[in-house]
Amino acid sequence: MSSYKENKDKKTRKKITVSKFIAKKSKGDKIAVLTAYDYYTARFLDRAGVDSLLVGDSVSMVHYGEDSTLPVTMEIMLAHTKAVSDGTEYALVIGDMPFMSYQSSLELAVANAGRFLKEGRAEAVKLEGGIEMAATVKRIVECGIPVMGHIGLTPQSIHRFGGAKVQGRKEKSIAYLLESAQALEEAGAFSMVLELVQKDTAEKITKAVHIPTIGIGAGINCDGQVLVINDILGLYEDFKPKFVRQYADLAPTIEKAASEFIADVKSGAYPSDDESF
Ligand code: KIV
Repeated sequence: MSSYKENKDKKTRKKITVSKFIAKKSKGDKIAVLTAYDYYTARFLDRAGVDSLLVGDSVSMVHYGEDSTLPVTMEIMLAHTKAVSDGTEYALVIGDMPFMSYQSSLELAVANAGRFLKEGRAEAVKLEGGIEMAATVKRIVECGIPVMGHIGLTPQSIHRFGGAKVQGRKEKSIAYLLESAQALEEAGAFSMVLELVQKDTAEKITKAVHIPTIGIGAGINCDGQVLVINDILGLYEDFKPKFVRQYADLAPTIEKAASEFIADVKSGAYPSDDESF
């Protein structure tokens, strides 16, 4: 049975649609986005009140142990996106288009973006790239699919960047980012991620566009922030970027629970009579 508080919250809480997401910028409401990859985590984060859940291609690293986002496939992304969509009632669910699912042709990009909505039940897609991706964004948006852009450090191009380097420090890079942000807005993107962007540059971009900017390692002046759920829960050990704030330390909690179970099995303390039939 649901509680009084749950019923009351249900009456006041509204589903975040793309237009409500955009409207937050003009209202000055900061937007909180987290990544999610599975049904139950999505349910917990949705219940906590997150505005949007991004099924990030970071799943490649934080769930599959790869050292980059490059190996993840459409099939894997669609399975995780469907699980997150099924667990979400209020947050806007965004599916992250994996490497080479949209870069080689407009037809491929549209077909794969469509699969995120049809098979993954996402409400929008995200893809990486600036001005060079504007035509792709435009074509997908023309098909009725909302697109979130992603500029700054774009992890699918990690080999071109040669490492996780802060973007928007030099004049040429600032100009490219500003031009890209404006091109993405003109192409119809409803929002964009700014990843690892120098904070004054991120502020300039945020002021230059009418759609929300969602920062990750881009300072306080973006319209919202996104972090990877495994990072904030202490479930990813391979590296910890400076911009990550860890809100829980679940790895030792999991290890402790598992070692207690192991000890109980070995000693015969589990199962008890009450846990038997
Ligand atoms: O894949 C991902 O998790 C992302 C966010 C970090 C923006 O793209």
